Amino acid sequence: MISSDVTVRTATASDVDRILGLVNELAVKQIMLPRSPASVIENLRDFLIAEVDGTFAGCGALAITWTDLAEVRSLAVHPDYQKHGVGRAIVEALITEAKRLEIPRLFAFTYVPGFFEKLAFAQAEHEQLPHKVFNDCMHCPKFLACDEIAMTRVLDPDAKTPTLLGMPQRSFPLPQRTKKVAAKQ
Ligand SMILES: CC(C)(COP(=O)(O)OP(=O)(O)OC[C@H]1O[C@@H](n2cnc3c(N)ncnc32)[C@H](O)[C@@H]1OP(=O)(O)O)[C@@H](O)C(=O)NCCC(=O)NCCS
Repeated sequence: MISSDVTVRTATASDVDRILGLVNELAVKQIMLPRSPASVIENLRDFLIAEVDGTFAGCGALAITWTDLAEVRSLAVHPDYQKHGVGRAIVEALITEAKRLEIPRLFAFTYVPGFFEKLAFAQAEHEQLPHKVFNDCMHCPKFLACDEIAMTRVLDPDAKTPTLLGMPQRSFPLPQRTKKVAAKQ
């Protein structure tokens, strides 16, 4: 098999069982984190599906964190199709989608940094990522002992620091305090 045999398409409801089956089969082997049915169904539009000769070969999702950041998550290639360019095809398609959305930076948490390095991601400290990306970590059994490696890739080095509603944007928006009205003298 060569990588040109791989096609990548958006996911549909009929892919849910296959996504859950593959991700959770790999999660049992402790090589990625599990996903619940609800988290896949509710976020189905994030998912892309890779097929080889029309057969399900893998999946991956692009989860938007903020206007300037998105996560590559639930990336999984069926063991029968690994090391044949399927993972690369999925990530490249997710990158195309991120560029379409004008999101300038991607990140992933992974146990396979070598794969992401091949896709031009670089290792980063967890602390370099905004707190918001750790929302899901609150539900993770490894919350107090995280052994995943953070990888990031800048897609648009010229991207300006984003603003939201005209205000400087923090990693997580804080409530804007009402300005005090100057007391009349
Ligand atoms: C990691 C994974 C997605 C890679 O998918 P894949 O289809 O096997 O990878 P590809 O064939 O597209 O490989 C692309 C490149 O990465 C390299 N690569 C693949 N797996 C690698 C690994 N585990 N470590 C280092 N490099 C790796 C390949 O050699 C290839 O390099 P090349 O372009 O120089 O030939 C797949 O092995 C997988 O699903 N693993 C289990 C689940 C997992 O770890 N998911 C990641 C969660 S973030």
